[in-house]
Amino acid sequence: MMRIALAAGIALIFATSVYAEDAEVYVDYRQGLMSAVGGNTAASAAILIDGAPFEANLEEHARAIERLTEDIPALFPEGTDHEDSDAKPEVWDDRSTFEERAEASHRAATAFREAVEEGDPAQAMPYFRELGGSCSNCHDDFRVEE
Ligand code: HEC
Repeated sequence: MMRIALAAGIALIFATSVYAEDAEVYVDYRQGLMSAVGGNTAASAAILIDGAPFEANLEEHARAIERLTEDIPALFPEGTDHEDSDAKPEVWDDRSTFEERAEASHRAATAFREAVEEGDPAQAMPYFRELGGSCSNCHDDFRVEE
């Protein structure tokens, strides 16, 4: 019993502060995840806007975006502001706004996935635009311009 309590206490310490070496791992992971979201978004755009003949994959792209944007703030714990990262300090200094933008983006991803499931790509278009806007809405304030 005691040992369990101790382990839980240690786990809590690890959960709330991230060592400098681990920060790089977080950066690598979230950049990889964001690239995957970006790839699925670009592929969706090629289908919806440019007419790439891969409508059969659209649902899969939409599902991946929805799933991967489920908890963006978890990718940015305190202490992961690393030199390789393009995240602005505001990610941690204005956390509530960052979390709101993340939630808005995930909601847009869900609405897009639902629209795609309806089966008519033309109907999904406004939801796709809304989703794209939600990415920029966060990047504009929380990501360093390339
Ligand atoms: C709540 C904020 C937020 C939302 C919403 C968000 N992003 Fe990001 N994104 C970031 C931040 C911050 C970074 C920089 C991460 C880093 O370098 O540590 C980033 C980085 C990226 C990158 C660059 C990855 C790399 O290799 O450096 C891509 C691509 C990207 N996002 C695509 C998207 C797309 C597409 C969406 C919408 C579907 C989206 N993001 C939604 C905050 C967000």
